[in-house]
Amino acid sequence: RGLEKFVDELPDMPRLRGYGVTDGGALVAGNLTVGMYDTTWKFHRDLPATRVFAYGTSRETATVPGPTIEAMRGVPTHVTWVNHLPRRHFLPWDPTLTTAGEADAGVPTVVHLHGGVQHSTSDGHSLAWFTAGHAATGPAFSSPPYTYPNRQPPGNLWYHDHAMGLTRVNILAGLMGAYRVASPGEETPLNLPSGEVLDRNLVLFDRDFLAGDGSLFMNRTGNNPDVHPQWQPEYFGSVVVVNGKAWPFLRVRRRRYRLRILNASNARFFRLSLSHGLRFVHVASDSFLLAPSEIADVVVDFAATAAGEAVMSDDAPAPYPGDPGDKTETIAVMKFLIGEEDDATEEPDTSAVPARLMRHYPRLDVREAATTRRITMYEYTKNGTDEPTHLYLNARSYMDPVTETPREGTSEVWEVINLTDDNHPLHVHLALFAVLEQRSLRRVDEFRDCMVRRNDARACGVGRHLAGGRRHAVPRQERGWKNVFKVRPGAVTRMLVRFKPLMPDDAASTEESRRYPFDVTTGPGYVYHCHILDHEDNEMMRPMKIVR
Ligand code: C2O
Ligand code: CU
Repeated sequence: RGLEKFVDELPDMPRLRGYGVTDGGALVAGNLTVGMYDTTWKFHRDLPATRVFAYGTSRETATVPGPTIEAMRGVPTHVTWVNHLPRRHFLPWDPTLTTAGEADAGVPTVVHLHGGVQHSTSDGHSLAWFTAGHAATGPAFSSPPYTYPNRQPPGNLWYHDHAMGLTRVNILAGLMGAYRVASPGEETPLNLPSGEVLDRNLVLFDRDFLAGDGSLFMNRTGNNPDVHPQWQPEYFGSVVVVNGKAWPFLRVRRRRYRLRILNASNARFFRLSLSHGLRFVHVASDSFLLAPSEIADVVVDFAATAAGEAVMSDDAPAPYPGDPGDKTETIAVMKFLIGEEDDATEEPDTSAVPARLMRHYPRLDVREAATTRRITMYEYTKNGTDEPTHLYLNARSYMDPVTETPREGTSEVWEVINLTDDNHPLHVHLALFAVLEQRSLRRVDEFRDCMVRRNDARACGVGRHLAGGRRHAVPRQERGWKNVFKVRPGAVTRMLVRFKPLMPDDAASTEESRRYPFDVTTGPGYVYHCHILDHEDNEMMRPMKIVR
């Protein structure tokens, strides 16, 4: 028998202020210490407490997801991340992957602020891992604290584990949390729903639990066990968890709410919609698709309908996009209980959704691209089976020498060619990018066979396969500057990648607007990778070094 839905109330995670305020009211840099703890968490009323690894300021207050860090634009946040984890992981650790540490010498961890623009020594490089007490450290390790300058535009980020070969199990165990960059001067005039009650983070992920003891379940046998005894190509769970509770409910009033929805799953895509005649407004859509690590910032106006119940549900195939003939199944995510109006006690909703949210962002200008790079996605199988053994970018493993060396202050066109059957959410650290077009490859099977054998685009007649394929429209809400983009299978995705800060008004293109506020060329450098965590852990990641 399954777990009953909508019996736990949606929690709000604890908030940590990532800045200080002086007696005179001035904002100053914040100093936080956040630990990683071996503890338990109640995911559902009827499940025993589950063993997790969780972020928090103490073991007693650690939560899954971790506390929401509230940063202020232009005010640095320093975080000392402390590993209090035990000698061994409680989830399967596949030693045949390129992996951090040794199986019983402490759980390696390192924290990446996803979407953050920070120096590479604070970026959570996958080889910058460390175990409890720094007993063991990776080759790219740098001493705490990490510094987040928060100079970027306001928005939604998240922090999560990034240890080499262990990201999928460390995040599965609970090591993730939301991070906001606020900018009251820019945001308050927009008059969006605000404050702790009306402006909520929703962190979604899927998990499986063992019915008896409530422990997190992960298959311990690999899909290709003689190659990787434990690695599975994608983790999918049948329980949808929001802010740490399985299928929770939230009581809302008939007014607008702002929801910042993060998909923190390993591999599941969520295509979300609301029942009861409700819509999401960011660009007024009925539904939208969130790949792992994508964040949607939406407003829902619960006054658009009568009091009652609205279910948020998901109907994306898993894996995504699946086979064309597959039936998709709709699964519940959470429920909103919309209260009756009480005119006597409720103040009217004066919030709004402005027609335009922010000042001008730089326009897409392909002519400014300094170069064009080709990034090709490969999946390798063994002796004619469909079961993948590993995934590569540009037919190279993660440990192969760096080949992507963009110049600071430039933009580049990246032509991402997906030769696999799955959609891969591509994430680039430091940079932002905007999609230019997505086009199906022509005669993709022939091209794939040739490329997997030879990895020589020219010899495989790349021009013929890239030209003239069917063009796929990009949804309006995905046309801006992003740090994750869904790379469609059997297609080429062209994007403009920016290796300079995003300034709200870039027209002047001054020297300052081309330089990051720190030296991007030093330290261990950055990475780019697929954000399906099981792929990232099995080589679908490459180093990237910025040069001047
Ligand atoms: Cu959200 Cu390299 O990660
Ligand atoms: Cu992938």
